Amino acid sequence: MKLLVTGGAGFIGSAFVRLAVSGGHFSVLNVDKLTYAGNLENLASVAGNPRYRFLRGDCADAALLDNCFRDFAPDAVIHFAAESHVDRSILSPQPVFDSNLAGSFQMLEAARRHGIARYIHVSTDEVYGSIDPPQEADENYPLRTSSPYSASKAGSDLLALSYHTTYKLPVVVTRASNNYGPYQFPEKLIPLMISNALEDKPLPIYGDGMQVRDWLYVDDHCRAILALLEKGAAGEVYNIGGSRSLPNLTVVKQILAATGKPESLLKTVTDRPGHDRRYALSSRKIMEATGWAPQVPFEQGLAETIDWYRNNQTWVAHVKSGEYREYYERNYAGR
Ligand code: NAD
Ligand code: TYD
Repeated sequence: MKLLVTGGAGFIGSAFVRLAVSGGHFSVLNVDKLTYAGNLENLASVAGNPRYRFLRGDCADAALLDNCFRDFAPDAVIHFAAESHVDRSILSPQPVFDSNLAGSFQMLEAARRHGIARYIHVSTDEVYGSIDPPQEADENYPLRTSSPYSASKAGSDLLALSYHTTYKLPVVVTRASNNYGPYQFPEKLIPLMISNALEDKPLPIYGDGMQVRDWLYVDDHCRAILALLEKGAAGEVYNIGGSRSLPNLTVVKQILAATGKPESLLKTVTDRPGHDRRYALSSRKIMEATGWAPQVPFEQGLAETIDWYRNNQTWVAHVKSGEYREYYERNYAGR
């Protein structure tokens, strides 16, 4: 089976490409713009594999996509490419619009022009917005977005579903909870806190740190996408949760304990504007449809992730140089 993967040089996309190529059943063409978040070092283990190809390109580029679909003739698309960070979307919404909305639109158009057997649009639980306890969102929960990021994802989800309703494109939309694991860019909570802790730098906690997220190990997310590639029904949305909800402060204190660092590194900073208090997801639908369930318990996944960052300091130093420093200054200075 030939897969056209977009955003395969990012955190989740690269985990998916490594899994799909090493599993032996797939050939992959990875189309990635290599933004600040795209890193070919994440794909070193598959770079020489004859079933893997890389093309640097923008998923909003219709002509480039026409060539990809014509030359590679994919059986399925897995569309990961996006600007993926809420804080950056608040600081600079334009790239979010360009990649998440215009990029998703051009991908759908290319798939419509050329035809495709399966199209997976990778989205997020953030489209449901903040959810009061004890509720959890199933796939029919209303969309109530807070940030430019989540609004762009909700917009592209609806666009993707409209291509099924209107053009019968075999679209499946996935909505996963917060992912963590190796190779995650250290702008998101877990890798940022691990790398700052390892460097004895302050750990910036937004507001009271009692916001709740549901944590999903990245390989569990990738296995869910593979399951839906086979068993997902066209036109359907599937939530993919980690079944492990924790307040941010609990997660960060676990990181300090595991790295042997003091709680004096915690630093309360001004809260994120429009900060969603709690995400909570029901994954019953994907479990019943495919038999998928998360396999990696949070404590195990976190320990492995911390080990990975400890043992891959060159990767961390590389991604934290240059542009990252400017971003860090813009997001955290004077906060
Ligand atoms: P990431 O930021 O690590 O990687 C994004 C990748 O997309 C990068 O390689 C980047 O170069 C590429 N990209 C961005 N714009 C592009 C464009 N216009 N054309 C081609 N490539 C482009 O993101 P991630 O965390 O791996 O997230 C991947 C997908 O999963 C996104 O769609 C995101 O919304 C979704 N998601 C992420 C999480 C999470 O916790 N990280 C949770 C649920 C869903
Ligand atoms: P993040 O990893 O950015 O994911 P999302 O906003 O998509 O859930 O943030 C996860 C939680 O951690 C969120 O409640 C914001 C909080 N957070 C901090 O407290 N400090 C930080 O420096 C970052 C990046 C996030």
